[in-house]
Amino acid sequence: MCGITGYIGSRPAVAIALTNLKRLEYRGYDSSGVAFPNRTHIRVVRATGRIANLERELADAGADATVAIAHTRWATHGRPTEANAHPQRDCTGRVAVVHNGIIENYAELRHQLSSEGHRFTSETDTEVLAHLIEASLAALPNGAGDPVVRAADAIRRAVGRVTGSYAIAVLLQDTPDAIYVARKDSPLVVGLGEGENFLASDIPAVMRYTRRVILLNDGDFATITPDIVTVTDITGAPVLREPLDVTWDDAAAEKGGYPHFMLKEIHEGPRTVRDTLRGRIAESGEIVLPDLNFTSAQWAGLQRIAIVACGTAYNAGMVGKRMFEQMLRRPTEVSIASEFRYSDPLVDEGTLVVLISQSGETADTLAAMREARARGATTLAIVNVVGSTLARDADFVMLTQAGPEIGVASTKAYLAQLTALALLCLYLAQLDPSQPLAEVGGAAHRELVAALQALPAQLESCLEREPEVAALASSMANCTGFFFLGRGYDHASSLEAALKLKEISYLHAEAYAAGELKHGPLALVEPGVAVIGFCTQPATNDKMVSNLKEVKARDGFVVTVLREGDLAPDCADGVIPIPNTVDALMPVLSMVPMQLLAYYVAHARSCDIDQPRNLAKSVTVE
Ligand code: M6R
Repeated sequence: MCGITGYIGSRPAVAIALTNLKRLEYRGYDSSGVAFPNRTHIRVVRATGRIANLERELADAGADATVAIAHTRWATHGRPTEANAHPQRDCTGRVAVVHNGIIENYAELRHQLSSEGHRFTSETDTEVLAHLIEASLAALPNGAGDPVVRAADAIRRAVGRVTGSYAIAVLLQDTPDAIYVARKDSPLVVGLGEGENFLASDIPAVMRYTRRVILLNDGDFATITPDIVTVTDITGAPVLREPLDVTWDDAAAEKGGYPHFMLKEIHEGPRTVRDTLRGRIAESGEIVLPDLNFTSAQWAGLQRIAIVACGTAYNAGMVGKRMFEQMLRRPTEVSIASEFRYSDPLVDEGTLVVLISQSGETADTLAAMREARARGATTLAIVNVVGSTLARDADFVMLTQAGPEIGVASTKAYLAQLTALALLCLYLAQLDPSQPLAEVGGAAHRELVAALQALPAQLESCLEREPEVAALASSMANCTGFFFLGRGYDHASSLEAALKLKEISYLHAEAYAAGELKHGPLALVEPGVAVIGFCTQPATNDKMVSNLKEVKARDGFVVTVLREGDLAPDCADGVIPIPNTVDALMPVLSMVPMQLLAYYVAHARSCDIDQPRNLAKSVTVE
């Protein structure tokens, strides 16, 4: 996830673009850059690290420019270096592009453009766009006509050649009186002023200057001049986008209109899963993970899997263990990182150690990785932050694409971790012909791929139940204790649901494998105690219902989480229906209402949701 801004008008464009860019720093902060027209070519200034470094690098450069585009980066293709920072330019230095998203066919385009003589200076997918535009402009027939309209036409044709997701802004030396933008699956907003216009990845970034905005839709292409914003589709046919007047206050704006980052990030779940899947499922259904490039022989030599992580990432690992054991039939251990390191762990050259971490900086997880490597294990990191220590030091890296997560309580990153684990499972299965999942296009493989692809839309429908969950939460906010129960995959979900509730509401919440209830915890059930039972696994649902009846018989408050269409047990005081998917992916869907439940209980108790007491986002000490 990166951030884009731009300005065109009569004021100092670079300063305005940078002011707005700072409000997007939450979207990425490994490097940043700005482009503005100079005498003969477009001047680009870039710096690694925070935007403050870019400001130092710029000094007074561009002070008199009245048009500029700028970018803050969260690396996806290519390391976080100055060369990979945006804006990216073409061979002539007359085209500059900033981009948020992923160009899926960049390797093929890069190969083709290189063979036509284009010279690449970065490892980014974005640079292909600059060269495509260069080629498209060069191919324009000579002739009259408005140069801005002609350029827009050429850019649209170039953009039409890329697949993937993008929000892009383009600046051309030859028509510096316009910024050209396009959007597909990545947000882009045009802020409207008097004799000036703005652009940004989100509304808050332009709110200091204007509250009148146009929200571009997928497939929109716009040409922005100081006085006019022309929106068309990719063929150039005009489309009408009514401006919107924003009434948020500034504090709400930073969180995209949500009262807390946590709620915003819960709502980013569908986007997160979509982005984590993007480019990893070929048309044939094959899972393609170019960064892993395992051979079948390598995988055959890895007879055991050890998953190591902390907190939410550990809970994701609990789901991963079941996936690996059931789908790959390889023995899989899950360890808490702080325990793993001092346990004289049974890992060796025949072990694949999967380390899961949002930040990639959790001290215990890093120590576990070093321990595993020292014992000769192959390490594979599932990590969200590019360039983090874990991402740099593990043998293999699989990036989740959640974007920066600000709320201390992890939400969207968990969904991304589960998605990545399922992709990894399918990928490894493909390397072992003895497994039913190995055959790309075979029934088992097809079913899981289709289920993964359906997740983003299903997550949207989970979010539609927010008002019901909020109402349920308000009736539970005075409960004195919470138990979360489940079996199999649902046990893993109960661990994460309990963690979410306890860390932000400060209420005592415990998770149990439901069968354990009568071996002790049942003694604690009394009026005022809430028991949330996950009943999403058909093989064990009857047993779950019996457990919940035991709770009701002791006057506990019973909530069931079940598949849409399933009959709620008559002992339930509250019911949360979840869309149907394969057993292994139910934890992805059932966690969204649990995150919302935790959020609304904490809200009702006036807790500090984004920064719960005693906790830090990244635990960098052991
Ligand atoms: O950055 P990591 O995923 O390695 O962090 C691990 C835990 O510290 C983290 O998941 C923590 O448990 C969260 N506060 C849970 O919401």
